[in-house]
Amino acid sequence: MATTSHLPSKILIFGATGAIGKYITDAILSAEALATQQISIFTSAVTVSNPGKQALLSSWESQGLSVITGNLNDAGDIEKAYDGIDTVISCLGRDVLASQIELLTLAEKSKDVQWFFLSEYGTDIEYDESSKTEKPHQNKLRVREFIRANIHRVECTYLVTGPYIDMFLTLLPGSEEAGGFDVESKRAVVIESGDDKVGFTTMLDVGKLVVAALRHPSASKGKILKVQSFVTTPNAILREFEKQTGVKWKVDHTTNQRLRELELENWDTDSPTATRITLRRIWAEGGTLYEKTDNEILGVVSSDMESLAAVVKRAVEGRGYQGKQPSLYYKQETGTQGT
Ligand SMILES: NC(=O)c1ccc[n+]([C@@H]2O[C@H](COP(=O)([O-])OP(=O)(O)OC[C@H]3O[C@@H](n4cnc5c(N)ncnc54)[C@H](OP(=O)(O)O)[C@@H]3O)[C@@H](O)[C@H]2O)c1
Repeated sequence: MATTSHLPSKILIFGATGAIGKYITDAILSAEALATQQISIFTSAVTVSNPGKQALLSSWESQGLSVITGNLNDAGDIEKAYDGIDTVISCLGRDVLASQIELLTLAEKSKDVQWFFLSEYGTDIEYDESSKTEKPHQNKLRVREFIRANIHRVECTYLVTGPYIDMFLTLLPGSEEAGGFDVESKRAVVIESGDDKVGFTTMLDVGKLVVAALRHPSASKGKILKVQSFVTTPNAILREFEKQTGVKWKVDHTTNQRLRELELENWDTDSPTATRITLRRIWAEGGTLYEKTDNEILGVVSSDMESLAAVVKRAVEGRGYQGKQPSLYYKQETGTQGT
């Protein structure tokens, strides 16, 4: 049952139009049970003037969402946006994770902000001893460390979802050996035997799980929540693809050792894919598995979550994850369009 006291009433979202922010914002907007009085997003002039984002922003505005345009690095813009806000949800991208430190500092000083969701929604950055040296975790670890030392009034929530299966069902261009699936060529690349388990969350379920956390403040505030849609293996995913496409797929295997070599090669050449290869290695080595998740304390049962069959069906029908739009921020900062 949902906790009815202290439900969020005025929510501000950072990073709303990003890869996962879209799902989180959509889920909050359509969550009747939250009865939120006000939902706003804080975004940049770059996003507001991006023709590719107009339809999304207009559709959200027609559902009552307010768009605040400002500069993420301008304290005055943030203080103004925090006025009257009790709950902040950050879905900021990897390049700007460190800016959350200033956002938290301003939240702590504000009179209104009570609850802050950090941009995590991914791999467990404190899974075991080895986690603290993993390169992709460093900014998120810094943010957690800052919070433990400095944030005392605002309550923080971290939602650890493991990999998005929607993205896992694709091959990394140029680094196909790191594992994944390609519907077009009916080809799979699995790590080792393909029988090792991985805990996944679908992108739609990330949105649902954020809403579940918002509906259960006493179970969520101050917590690092480990949530998942389901646990499966690359071979089980392959069987589901073969069942739904009606043909046998070509399968290649990559050893853990080869994956580690590929990872080093990518870091050595500053490849933008390096982060994703490290994460795939962590997932393949079991860094997503728990005896028990926190789904239950958020009131979520397995039938509330999407199934493997549903997400494979989307991929087979061409409605799966299609990759990110090139970053317009990068273009503005460097004169070159990023990936
Ligand atoms: N579990 C997984 O498999 C997985 C996969 C991908 C990401 N993640 C995690 O999910 C979180 C969000 O990642 P994402 O891939 O969704 O992020 P993203 O699409 O790269 O960026 C999200 C948003 O951050 C804002 N942003 C990015 N760069 C900016 C800049 N230079 N200046 C101002 N704003 C900027 C933008 O907000 P506006 O929308 O307001 O423009 C952007 O839409 C991260 O913590 C990431 O690690 C997890």
